Amino acid sequence: MAETPAVRRTRELLRTGVDASSPMRGVLDVRVTDSTARQASPASASSVAGRLMTFSPLAAVYERAWRPLFRLWMGAGGPSVEEQRAYAVRDLGLVSPDVSVVLDVACGPGNFSRSLADALLTAAHVSEPLVIGLDASEPMIARASADTDDDEHVAYLLGDARELPFEDDAVDAVCCYAALYLVPEPYRVLDEMIRVLRPGGRIALMTTVRRGPQPVGAVTAAAASTVGLEMFRRDDITDVLRERGVEHVEQRIHGAAQFVTGRLCRSGQDVPVSAP
Ligand SMILES: C[S@@+](CC[C@H](N)C(=O)[O-])C[C@H]1O[C@@H](n2cnc3c(N)ncnc32)[C@H](O)[C@@H]1O
Repeated sequence: MAETPAVRRTRELLRTGVDASSPMRGVLDVRVTDSTARQASPASASSVAGRLMTFSPLAAVYERAWRPLFRLWMGAGGPSVEEQRAYAVRDLGLVSPDVSVVLDVACGPGNFSRSLADALLTAAHVSEPLVIGLDASEPMIARASADTDDDEHVAYLLGDARELPFEDDAVDAVCCYAALYLVPEPYRVLDEMIRVLRPGGRIALMTTVRRGPQPVGAVTAAAASTVGLEMFRRDDITDVLRERGVEHVEQRIHGAAQFVTGRLCRSGQDVPVSAP
C-alpha cells in the first residue's frame, strides 16, 4: 500500500528496530508479530469493556451515538463533546507555535485526532502539523482510516499504548481521552506517554474519578471493576504526573470524570513561570 505523507513522517519518529507495515490507507501497524507474545499480554483488556472496543458495529456508531453518552457520567452541566474538544485543544497548547506533532493515545475511530489536526491547521503559524492517533483495536483504526481525508496531517498506528513505538521525546503534546480507565496497566501507559513527550511538552487526559464519601466511592469502583473499568481516586493521576516531573498540573472534575493537564519538566529543566 502506498504510504501517505503523514505515514511517512510518522515512520521517521519510530524507535530504531520497530517493524511497521501499512495495511490500509494512512495506517501503520506496529504490533508485535509474535502471536505468543500477543496472547500472553493482549493490548485490550479481556474485560467486557475491553472486548467491546474491538466490536466492529461499535466502531461504526462510536462517534455519533456512543461517545455523546459519556456526558451522562459527567454530571449536570458537564461538558459536551465539543467542549471536551476545546479542553483538549487548549490544554495541549495547540495554538502555540512550538507544538506541531501531537500523539492521540487510544484514539478510537479518530474522533479527537481529526479535531486536533484541524486546530493545528487553524493555528496558521504551526509548521508541518502532524497528529498521530494510536489504538489497539483493528475495527477502530479501520474506521479512523475510512473517516479521515487528510493524508498530509493525520496518520494512525495500530499498536499498544503500553509500549509506544516512538523514540524518547518524540512528540510535542500527548492526548489520552476516555481510555485510561479501560486499558490494562494504566500507569504503564502514563509512563510511556511521559517518555515520548519532549521536555516542555503538554499532556491532556480525560478519565474517571471516584466521587462521594469513601464507602460510596469504593462501592462504585468495585461495581465498575466488574466490567473492567477503573475508577481512579482523586489524586491517583495527578500524583503520578507530579512524581514523573509534570508541572502546572491542573485537574477539573465533572461528575465522575476528570480532565487533567500539565507540562513536562525533565531532569532539572525548568518550565517558564509564565507557562499556563
Ligand atoms: C472509549 S475509546 C476512546 C476514544 C477517543 N479517545 C475518545 O475520547 O472518544 C477507548 C479506546 O482505547 C483503546 N484501547 C484499549 N486498550 C488499549 C491499549 N492497550 N492500547 C491502545 N489502545 C487501547 C480501545 O481500543 C478504544 O478504542
